[in-house]
Amino acid sequence: MPAPANILNAHQNCFIMKISDNLYYVGVNDRVKHRFEALWSLPGGVSYNSYLIDGERTVLVDTVDVAFFAEYLEKINAVLQGRPLDYLVINHMEPDHSGSIALVRKYFPGVRLVGNCRTMEMVRGFYGEATDGDLVVKDGDTLPLGDRTLTFRLVPMLHWPETMVTYDAAAGILFSGDAFGCFGALNGAVVDTQMDTAPYWREMERYCAAILGKFRAPVRAALAKLDGLEINMICSTHGPVWTEEAPRVVDLYRRFAEGALQPGLVVCYGSMYGNTQRMAEAVAEGAAAAGLRRVVVHNLSVSPLSEVLTDVFRYGALAVGAPTYNGGLFPPVEDLLQRLVHRDTPPHRLGFFGGYCWSAQAVRVMNDYACRLKAQPVAEPVEWKQGAGGDELERARELGRRLAEGLV
Ligand code: FEO
Repeated sequence: MPAPANILNAHQNCFIMKISDNLYYVGVNDRVKHRFEALWSLPGGVSYNSYLIDGERTVLVDTVDVAFFAEYLEKINAVLQGRPLDYLVINHMEPDHSGSIALVRKYFPGVRLVGNCRTMEMVRGFYGEATDGDLVVKDGDTLPLGDRTLTFRLVPMLHWPETMVTYDAAAGILFSGDAFGCFGALNGAVVDTQMDTAPYWREMERYCAAILGKFRAPVRAALAKLDGLEINMICSTHGPVWTEEAPRVVDLYRRFAEGALQPGLVVCYGSMYGNTQRMAEAVAEGAAAAGLRRVVVHNLSVSPLSEVLTDVFRYGALAVGAPTYNGGLFPPVEDLLQRLVHRDTPPHRLGFFGGYCWSAQAVRVMNDYACRLKAQPVAEPVEWKQGAGGDELERARELGRRLAEGLV
């Protein structure tokens, strides 16, 4: 495969990346949005990747957030140079990728959409677009383009029901939609061999935990379906194009899907006036004293939720601590536990600690969550009334030691 090349189209001052024979990156960076899906922080931005095949037939693979359409259109036109657009393949309908479909149709009126029946239903539902004459594909269907053939594989619930991937067998290129994606805008280069990929690995774990955390089983099913394909290049909808490091990407997703956890402890707590925080520190001290080297402490009133979830999906032990609040659990802690219940959270070595002033509720509620997580705490929860004293702190250190057992 020839080395990717940067192509500057001087006429339109439009920077286009040729990433393979007749294949161009025409995606955009979003460095403006604060929260992806209005939920997940984006300290390094995010890219919306789109690809344009400019061979015997012209094919756009996925689009971009409609807010970036002007920039996107300029890139498409710079590649096509007046040629018509034959097909738009839609791997995923979430609007960060489908948002420009209607405008693509407006500017390229002859284009045929390519998607499965659920895709077409969403095209009609989201954008009011008629889909008569478009190409409805089923799992395993192919689209001959003359100089290459695209094969479509349905991978439902990754993370929407219509999700599919598109494979170019001759070149070994997988257009994977959200699968194998990550947070983080692209900083000049697009292909992994032309950049320092170090910042993207944590962002990939964060993407998995935040976006795909409920869908580990469909990710496993998708990986099984893709097993055996020769993959030279992964073109996902977020983050770098992966070539040399594609096996590492697949391995990261496989470990996430299988719930493989590393030895380590995450201590998650909320604290209004410092008592629960002292207990959280004591749990961490106990685990560290037992020889556990990877101990992460998150104040849930401060740490971004996606960072917390990333560590919960990374490490094998989890300690959660909270004060009682309004006859229940301190809200940021309850929010985390709800998120874990509503995800396919891998089983952890679990421990709780909770305080109260006059009505002991925090530990009771956390025990309810342990049942919903189908987890058996490794020890009795540590509970204290009002100020946490030396005895309670020692019990918290002991909880940390118990959580570290088997992980050192
Ligand atoms: Fe990147 Fe599920 O959209």
